[in-house]
Amino acid sequence: MLKKVESSHLKMILKWRNSDEVRKASLDSSVILEADHYHWWSGYLKDPRKNAYIYSVDGVDLGIISWVVDQGAGCAVWSFYLSPEAPRGMGHGQNMLKEGLGVIFSDEKISEVVGIVLLSNEPSIQLHKKLGFQLISPKTGSEDRLQFRLER
Ligand SMILES: CC(C)(COP(=O)(O)OP(=O)(O)OC[C@H]1O[C@@H](n2cnc3c(N)ncnc32)[C@H](O)[C@@H]1OP(=O)(O)O)[C@@H](O)C(=O)NCCC(=O)NCCS
Repeated sequence: MLKKVESSHLKMILKWRNSDEVRKASLDSSVILEADHYHWWSGYLKDPRKNAYIYSVDGVDLGIISWVVDQGAGCAVWSFYLSPEAPRGMGHGQNMLKEGLGVIFSDEKISEVVGIVLLSNEPSIQLHKKLGFQLISPKTGSEDRLQFRLER
């Protein structure tokens, strides 16, 4: 199930975000400092265009999915990661994203979801393809990443 991110989740999210695997998969791979993390999230949680949910199974928090809505473009740009403790290759990533797509597309004004993935992140590339996302050519100067789009 997905539950909205609350301030009580932020300590756990910082641990996940600073794990080696998530940093390697992130556009900004630096270690996030605690103060910066809380400051960033306090702004994020107040912004009506921004959404974030914890994915949990049987009461265990396994991952996070978030997206920013551009109402003018009818588009949501998402990002996601599993907890370092969540088992890999068992469908948790896919299940989290499918649930997330259900929530995103429940907003009638959103017609597409965009994912930006580092070229080195094969699991995420394959996962986007599996969910039916189409590859869009990267912009000049962004050759280290791929952009995927899923239309409603
Ligand atoms: C990417 C991530 C969410 C995948 O989670 P997961 O639970 O291991 O993936 P799933 O078991 O749901 O796999 C679903 C599909 O993803 C792809 N996939 C997952 N792991 C893969 C791997 N190691 N290599 C290639 N493809 C892989 C496959 O298409 C797989 O389908 P299949 O099992 O039928 O082959 C997880 O590894 C993660 O959180 N990574 C770090 C953060 C990250 O990369 N975030 C995305 C940034 S764009």
